[in-house]
Amino acid sequence: MSSCIIPVQPFDYVVFGATGDLTKRKLIPALYHRFKDGQFDEESRIIGVSRTPWSDADFQKVAKESIAEFVEKEYQDKKTIDRFASIFSYVPNDVTDPAKWGDLSKKLRNDPKIVRAFYLAIAPDLFGPTCEYIAKQKYYRRDARVVIEKPLGHDLGSSIQINDEVSKIFKEDQVYRIDHYLGKETVQNLIVFRFANGIFEPVWNNRFVDHVQITGAETVGVEGRGGYFEQAGILRDMVQNHLFQVVSLASMEPPISMDPDAVRDEKLKVLKALRTIPASEMDAHVVRAQYAAGSIAGKKVPGYREEPGVSRNSQTETYVAMKFFIDSWRWAGVPFYLRSGKRMPKRVTEIAIHFKEAPHLLFGKRGEGIKPNVLAIRIQPDEGITLNFGSKLPGPAMEVAPVSMEFRYGSSFGVEPPEAYERLILDCLLGDNTLFTRADEVEASWTWISRIHQHWAEQSAMGNAQLATYAAGSWGPEAAERLLAADHRAWRRP
Ligand code: BG6
Repeated sequence: MSSCIIPVQPFDYVVFGATGDLTKRKLIPALYHRFKDGQFDEESRIIGVSRTPWSDADFQKVAKESIAEFVEKEYQDKKTIDRFASIFSYVPNDVTDPAKWGDLSKKLRNDPKIVRAFYLAIAPDLFGPTCEYIAKQKYYRRDARVVIEKPLGHDLGSSIQINDEVSKIFKEDQVYRIDHYLGKETVQNLIVFRFANGIFEPVWNNRFVDHVQITGAETVGVEGRGGYFEQAGILRDMVQNHLFQVVSLASMEPPISMDPDAVRDEKLKVLKALRTIPASEMDAHVVRAQYAAGSIAGKKVPGYREEPGVSRNSQTETYVAMKFFIDSWRWAGVPFYLRSGKRMPKRVTEIAIHFKEAPHLLFGKRGEGIKPNVLAIRIQPDEGITLNFGSKLPGPAMEVAPVSMEFRYGSSFGVEPPEAYERLILDCLLGDNTLFTRADEVEASWTWISRIHQHWAEQSAMGNAQLATYAAGSWGPEAAERLLAADHRAWRRP
């Protein structure tokens, strides 16, 4: 069972950076899936733009290669692929040099019913020149959309600069900032789960919740992206964007409607309510670490410093664990513990709500199996929700054992959730920006995260970097265990 398909009006979709990896790995397969499902047809056009001097035929060939490599075999169908590839065309273009500006005027249709979208699959320092090119060439329309991708800056200042450059041409309601986590079904389900059911909201607060744990663990290392990761680190790569989006959806107040700004207003309030960690407490609240060599699923893997593109004395964190508070009526006093790491033993992203113990336990020694209830929302893999509770052990004694109740997307609906990009690209063409981050959200999140980076930079300058190590294939450094042990708590083993 899957939800209905909302047809999209014919569109001209201009992809800057068409020759790059993102286009091949994500955009083309996502668009193909939607085309195959009949969400749009040959009246639409995908126009590639990049410096490489390709022809239409070259781009069409790449589209076919991308489908062959990244689309599951059972969805590959020659006739559909040929029809799909026929909507691809290409214009060589260098936005940094007006003498080499390409001419899109023959490709872009002026009919106002044809949706116009620009996807900037390019480095952020090219966002400004690209927007300028769009404006000066008169390709801008008030109803056009522009899609931009992470990294949306490396700190508060640079994210403001990006937002400023884009906003010189495009109004905020035209800007679609992709955070692919918002395209994941289970992240969207956080809204449905919380606000379509009457029984969870009454306990979703500091009266019933003891603490919240958010985990974003990956088994992969930096996958040949050492150069990028050296500059980013896990705090920028995963926490500032993806995991903070998960935190805000899980902890926001009910929006007054599903209107994009109503939802984003509530998410923003959470980010603004994150309590500032004073510099003097930063090391006690935020643990950073880097993986050393180890093994994952019986396979030996090198340490981070041995990865290509990584400095031999790199101080970049591949793991972070932190404790923070959201200063609001709902969450006053409830600690949030968040961890994210590369080269963990298991790939898992989840948010776990740990409820308070029952106020009075009746079962004496036989009740030793009682554990506080945990509601875990698994974002991936094996998307679903688990509720742990205590149950009577079968037999004559009143003995208690922990059990769990499971909801699995796959088995309940009999379909695999679609790729995040499918949803996001089509939402943009439909003009719905609910699942895209707004400039003020990005800036609020950077404001909080930049303080940690600033503290780390100051510590490093004093030769005092508190960077722990952990063996690849372990659940992170000892210091992360101590972070929770200090509060008489422990990380879940998902
Ligand atoms: C990307 C990060 O944004 O998200 C990667 O740059 C990370 O480093 C990836 O691996 C995780 O995404 P997902 O969908 O695999 O959880």
